[in-house]
Amino acid sequence: MTAGGSTSNERELKTRSCPQWWLLAREAKIPDEVTSVKRLNRVPHQAPFFLFQQRLNCAAMSAPENIHTKGPANLRDADDATCVEAAAILRAGGLVAFPTETVYGLGADATNDRAVAAIFAAKGRPQFNPLIVHVLDAESAARDVILDSRTRTVAARFWPGPLSLVLPRAPDCRVSLLCSAGLNSLAVRAPNHPVARAVLRALDRPVAAPSANPSGAISPTTAAHVARGLGSKVAMILDGGPCPLGLESSVLDLTSATPTLLRPGGTTREDLESVLGPIAVAGAESPIASPGMLESHYAPRLPLRMNARAAKPGEAWLAFGPVPGEGPAAAENLSPSGDLSEAAGNLFAALHRLDRPDFTGIAVMPIPEDGLGAAINDRLRRAAAPREG
Ligand code: TXA
Ligand code: MG
Repeated sequence: MTAGGSTSNERELKTRSCPQWWLLAREAKIPDEVTSVKRLNRVPHQAPFFLFQQRLNCAAMSAPENIHTKGPANLRDADDATCVEAAAILRAGGLVAFPTETVYGLGADATNDRAVAAIFAAKGRPQFNPLIVHVLDAESAARDVILDSRTRTVAARFWPGPLSLVLPRAPDCRVSLLCSAGLNSLAVRAPNHPVARAVLRALDRPVAAPSANPSGAISPTTAAHVARGLGSKVAMILDGGPCPLGLESSVLDLTSATPTLLRPGGTTREDLESVLGPIAVAGAESPIASPGMLESHYAPRLPLRMNARAAKPGEAWLAFGPVPGEGPAAAENLSPSGDLSEAAGNLFAALHRLDRPDFTGIAVMPIPEDGLGAAINDRLRRAAAPREG
């Protein structure tokens, strides 16, 4: 340690790719042995974020001027005035949950390191999992990411809408490096929901917003879901009714020659291929993976069984399409007519309702894999995946 309180280790950290982490680490008084550059150099490039995680969470939660965690959450009907209020909270560094056409998002000013760190803290989200940044349109995105002509064509066709594009960060990108979690890219999306758009317009800055649920839990499609999962951790929840689509955006990586679908979602692979030609799908044809897709996710507390033809005694029954005869009493049907967009819209709300301690598990009928079925089955597979711990 030198007289000015700055060590060579600190100076080296500061000049590494993530000066924001250095500032936050310093604020949280993280000892040198944790941030040791020697130690960080021994681990893969994302590991530093992991090492900082717990201390940073403390930093975000204990900041004196903290307004992130005032509770209980202020649940407000979304209208012009409350959207402007929400933007003021965001501008001051607070967290606001708001509806999008896909799921509710947990928003923070994407240019504010401390506000973005508070998102990770509130969700209990691993620091290696990057965040989607919300913008009004391609023009506003162009301030922070590089849009080539292919990207502009895709954005013109699908934005605003349920499609997040992973793009190279612009050299003068204003968005906190915490949103990129150690990658050189940034995921951006223009949401198509009047409340999300009103907030973005009033704030006039990019908004980082993961789904507004504790990390690993089922995504929220109503304000009540958000209040139940994160109620005490957000300054305001804007209630704009149930999310019309009910499934998260598709995440498409456009940083390399072959576009790669990292997460199936509200924009179907078929629609993307009609504009881009053949695309790769992460995990199957491509080694590229989205950090957030590695874990069991979207998980109800109950075990979930897919492709079930019938419920076992004690199980809740989640049906799809016409069901012959009488189903079990504790049944929900995602879409009695077999409509995949209706099923997508009902999926998370049905899982929230059926995830009750009086059942032993949730049995789900087979759902076709085409169109939105790919995203529905992806979420169900993750919900059914073995859990850690
Ligand atoms: O519909 C949605 O996308 C919602 C609403 C609120 O917009 N947001 C959402 O965010 O689902 P989240 O954080 O729950 O999921 C974001 C996904 C994660 O799987 C994350 O790993 C991936 O996008 N992602 C974000 N930035 C990325 C990047 N730069 N490279 C690769 N994957 C990225
Ligand atoms: Mg999520």
